Amino acid sequence: SPVPGSIGIGHTRWATHGPPDKKNAHPLTVGRVAVAHNGIIENHAELRRALQKDGRRFSSDTDTEVFAHLLDMRLGAAAAGDAAEAAAMRAAVGRLRGAFALAAVAVGRDKIMCARRGAPLLAAMGPDGVYVTSDAHALERRAETVAFPEDGDIVILSPGRVVFFDSSGRPARRKWLRAPDVADEAALGDHAHFMRKEMLEQPAAVAATLDPLLSRERIVPRLFGAGASAAFERIQDVVIAACGTSYHAGLAGRRWLEERAEIPCRAEIASEYRGMPRPRPRAGDLLVAISQSGETADTLGALRDFRERGLGRSLAICNTAQSAMAREASMFLPTRAGIEIGVASTKTFTAQMAALAATSLAMARVRRVYNQSPTSDGAEKRAMTELAALPEIIRKSLELEEAVQKWARAIAKTLGVIFVARGRLLPLALEGALKLKELSYIHAESCPAGELKHGTLALVERGTPVIGLAGDDAFLPKTSANLAEAEARGARLFVLAGKDFEMKGANVIRVPECPEWLSPFAFAAPTQMLAYHTALELDRDIDKPRNLAKSVTVE
Ligand code: M6R
Repeated sequence: SPVPGSIGIGHTRWATHGPPDKKNAHPLTVGRVAVAHNGIIENHAELRRALQKDGRRFSSDTDTEVFAHLLDMRLGAAAAGDAAEAAAMRAAVGRLRGAFALAAVAVGRDKIMCARRGAPLLAAMGPDGVYVTSDAHALERRAETVAFPEDGDIVILSPGRVVFFDSSGRPARRKWLRAPDVADEAALGDHAHFMRKEMLEQPAAVAATLDPLLSRERIVPRLFGAGASAAFERIQDVVIAACGTSYHAGLAGRRWLEERAEIPCRAEIASEYRGMPRPRPRAGDLLVAISQSGETADTLGALRDFRERGLGRSLAICNTAQSAMAREASMFLPTRAGIEIGVASTKTFTAQMAALAATSLAMARVRRVYNQSPTSDGAEKRAMTELAALPEIIRKSLELEEAVQKWARAIAKTLGVIFVARGRLLPLALEGALKLKELSYIHAESCPAGELKHGTLALVERGTPVIGLAGDDAFLPKTSANLAEAEARGARLFVLAGKDFEMKGANVIRVPECPEWLSPFAFAAPTQMLAYHTALELDRDIDKPRNLAKSVTVE
């Protein structure tokens, strides 16, 4: 910056086809067009073969290049003008299968031609120009208004002008909204990394998520969208679909929906859930899609499959109110964690868990669980008070940083780590292992403590670090016994524990006291910090771990 010229396209490429090198870098130029592409073109191999037969020569390994050829052919014959160029785009896109967003420029045409199918894309206007992007964060401080093309739209941007054509080629109007102001939130300030800043923001993120829900005497279903009350009343089964860290929040949430609202619930990895033969969703089925970005292709795919196949209702819990999931689900509950820049999800994870815990209370009320239970007197009120205290519990758990840092020095010297837990802390063991491997590149397994002896224990030898999560719950004696079994085989124990855990020889860090049902919140920050400090010891690229992306819009 500054760059010469008045029009341009670019892409920070996340490799899907071919290594991330110069040959495969976007924009890809073919003939008189250049193309940047987010997503995947599924039938690229057959299109490539057909185009090669017609004499077209390819110079990259990417799936994108087939589109560049198709557009080059179509645009060659197209007259100047938005409608003709949109028709050429539509014809080229019509040959593609998959989910993608595309932006193209062509010699002699002073415009950017875009297409959206199943992947995020938004258009924007600001004092200095017009823009299109797959991620709103790229427009920080530039956009004044934004508009969301619908699926199948073609968008043509010229100096000072943005026009839309719908999937059947007709000119279309799309609503322009005020652009969210994200500039200050996205600043690093005095912090060394966004991840650390975001971990420290967790009390505020959880408070901001819960405040609107807890501000009345009851958690009002209306806050989930119109018709939520009737929908909650009808629910018979819930399936939570999500990926990665959001899936782990879903695993934690599943327990609350089952025990608080007494609704059968399972959590599924979205990429495994979609496309599997299964009974059609019935009117009493609810799919909860959880996602920080609201654009994750697998989770969005699971939501769409569910909606298209049956009568069920859907609820999106996302951190981005304008995201595809938030727009497409029948109900929406925002997490209000603010922008999360670090690839590792931290504050959005605890905010998602908070949203799920609150959702379980809202559903319990509508389904009259409290009225039926003999011990219910004040149970709902108490639960709400306990939720309101979560920010303080998380704040105290963040004070464990120094102690965790000492563990990190030891963990950084090892080749592999095993996380174990039981019951409601198991999702935190899974999350602890995911965080450690994505940030430090040290191999980490997670295992239900009771499963150790059924296989994973074979990995334990003298000095193997086993990280236990041991809460003050009914599982404690059994978890302790499993940890002792590992220690007897040489494991070095590091245990995050409540006040009741005792074991000679184990390294123990005590998490803050917390109502038992909300214990995942007391364990979240220490597991995140362990990964952070281990990665710091190893000098890793903490905010941008290798091979990963913040928003995963490919399947
Ligand atoms: O945006 P989403 O929450 O849908 O993303 C899903 C996963 O890609 C994400 O949670 C990922 O596992 C984390 N960033 C890892 O820290």
